Amino acid sequence: MAEAILAIDELVKNFGALRATDHVTLDLKPGEIHALIGPNGAGKTTLISQIAGTIRPDRGRISFDGRDVGALSVAQRARLGLGRTFQVSSLALEFSALRNVMLAVQAVSGSSFRFFRPVMRDRSLIEPAMAALERAGLAERANVTVAELSHGERRQVEIAIALAMKSKAFLLDEPMAGMGPEGSSRLTGFLDGLREEAPILLVEHDMNAVFALADRISVLVYGRVIATGTVDEIRSDPEVRRAYLGDEA
Ligand SMILES: Nc1ncnc2c1ncn2[C@@H]1O[C@H](COP(=O)(O)OP(=O)(O)OP(=O)(O)O)[C@@H](O)[C@H]1O
Ligand SMILES: [Mg+2]
Repeated sequence: MAEAILAIDELVKNFGALRATDHVTLDLKPGEIHALIGPNGAGKTTLISQIAGTIRPDRGRISFDGRDVGALSVAQRARLGLGRTFQVSSLALEFSALRNVMLAVQAVSGSSFRFFRPVMRDRSLIEPAMAALERAGLAERANVTVAELSHGERRQVEIAIALAMKSKAFLLDEPMAGMGPEGSSRLTGFLDGLREEAPILLVEHDMNAVFALADRISVLVYGRVIATGTVDEIRSDPEVRRAYLGDEA
């Protein structure tokens, strides 16, 4: 079996008396979509934040692309190829979609000597940013300010940012949220193809999307992984049905 590109080992995170991450071990292999599901407050976003580097775990290890990234900053991890999208958008509202993507590319490109060149005229930034927006299905909205974009379109901008950064793995926190049925099905098709290029750790409440896309599913409840398996295994797991799926499956 292929070596994992991302491996999380025995991660623990406490917020005061609350254990939000309880000895979580999971991995992401090349070519796969690994879905992370679980009820509200289960600790999905907290886990993604620890992998991306915005939250420090209390214990455990995170290795990415063969190295321990636990001590690295968010930007360093992004530069190594960890691309993240947010449950709550982190984009600059007053800038266009294109400018947001360009600024993100510039931020990770490691070149701080560009500041004297106007960003919007820098072809080495425009071209990859436009290509990424095109792939994320948002090319015709490139010059619209983010404030005017729908929630779904903002997710597409974040995905374009992760693409433009040439991410080697994607951490997507509820990318379908705020999208209508048409948007969700378009995004599902897009993610389906994206896994070949870079594997995806996908946090998602939309079970249609999860069942359609996931190679493996891990179920998080009260910070603990209660099951990991294929779609069929998870759908038929009695503990998972009780804890999360209910009648949905
Ligand atoms: N910075 C923080 N300080 C204190 N408690 C926090 C913090 N962030 C999250 N929590 C708590 O940790 C638990 C896990 O939250 P988290 O946001 O990771 O859940 P989630 O699975 O992403 O939920 P949702 O499906 O609603 O997005 C919750 O009880 C939450 O209230
Ligand atoms: Mg969350």
